[in-house]
Amino acid sequence: MASSASLLLVISALLISISSVCVSGAPTSAHVVKGLSWTFHESTCPKLESIVRKQLKKIFKEDIGQAAGLLRLHFHDCFVQGCDGSVLLDGSHSGPSEKDAPPNLTLRARAFKIIDDLRRRVHEECGRVVSCADIVALAARDAVFLSGGPDYDIPLGRKDGLNFATRNATVANLPPPTSNASAILASLATKNLDPTDVVALSGGHTIGIGHCPSFTPRLYPSQDPTMDETFANDLKHICSPPPPDSNNTTVLDIRTPNKFDNKYYVDLMNRQGLFTSDQDLYTDAKTRDIVESFAIDQALFFDKFVHAMIKMGQLSVLTGRHGEIRSNCSVRNSDNKSFLTYMVEDDEESRSELR
Ligand code: HEM
Repeated sequence: MASSASLLLVISALLISISSVCVSGAPTSAHVVKGLSWTFHESTCPKLESIVRKQLKKIFKEDIGQAAGLLRLHFHDCFVQGCDGSVLLDGSHSGPSEKDAPPNLTLRARAFKIIDDLRRRVHEECGRVVSCADIVALAARDAVFLSGGPDYDIPLGRKDGLNFATRNATVANLPPPTSNASAILASLATKNLDPTDVVALSGGHTIGIGHCPSFTPRLYPSQDPTMDETFANDLKHICSPPPPDSNNTTVLDIRTPNKFDNKYYVDLMNRQGLFTSDQDLYTDAKTRDIVESFAIDQALFFDKFVHAMIKMGQLSVLTGRHGEIRSNCSVRNSDNKSFLTYMVEDDEESRSELR
């Protein structure tokens, strides 16, 4: 009797873990905001997802680091003014762009090129029906999967914004790496992200790199006592000479720097988190248990990460008649000379057809 009960327990535990590993398809619990849908481009651009995935597979084969760049780009897009592609816009007469604000200076230049190249491929296949914001969201989703993480569906149908945020708004919405867990929790709570979402999203730091100025305040003038001694010495070597001179880089997850897995949480438990905003998630009692639960259960991490990404990916989205679909991701259509010329020519052509 006891053994059949325990067999039942093992089987149900197995089923639960299998169902959370295979996070493909639309998660049933996910809330979808009005105007977005899982099948938005299915009839207007059926090849969209395969174009994006095929091209990214090729790019990551040569340089897997680009996956991290694309994942971070989506986060920086969504947190400032919503997922509206505003991070992609160049500055204009109205002021410097979001790209020019300090937290965005370390976004990878190549990530912007990859997005506009994907947009060109998609628009060549389907016409101007998919927004840059949707392409950023899909690229981030594929960056996760193609570096070893879960595969999952995301709601689509975002429009591109007409304006970018100011420098102050950009800085205010992207917390610095020197923040402690309380500050990160408070900042993300304003976006309706709860502590589990915060810890799961921070797991994005399982891939990619950081520059010395992002973490040297933990090394100089005095060493952060929550940092492992050997790890600190290694970082001092990398960031030598000490600030403000060194702009070297190091990996965010020392165990498996290019693999999307749960080792980031194992790093935190070993006091080897790179930023204060990472390490304090383990130091702070409010989030410590969540870190531990993800460190011992990768399927649970994947499940919560997917949930939080779908939530983040819908922050203040523009849909329906709001916004536009840019024909160049870095310029809004009304400022885009080649787009306007094309529209005028198109208009003249249709008028001459009527004559
Ligand atoms: C919670 C607050 C967060 C803070 C304070 C933070 C801070 C940072 C910093 C300072 C860097 C390195 C910049 C540099 O020195 O080059 C970085 C990199 C990165 N972040 Fe975050 N981040 C946060 C959340 C997120 C989220 C939610 C994601 C995605 C889900 C994410 C994904 C990444 C990735 C993938 C990189 C590596 C980028 C690359 O290699 O180009 N971060 N983050």
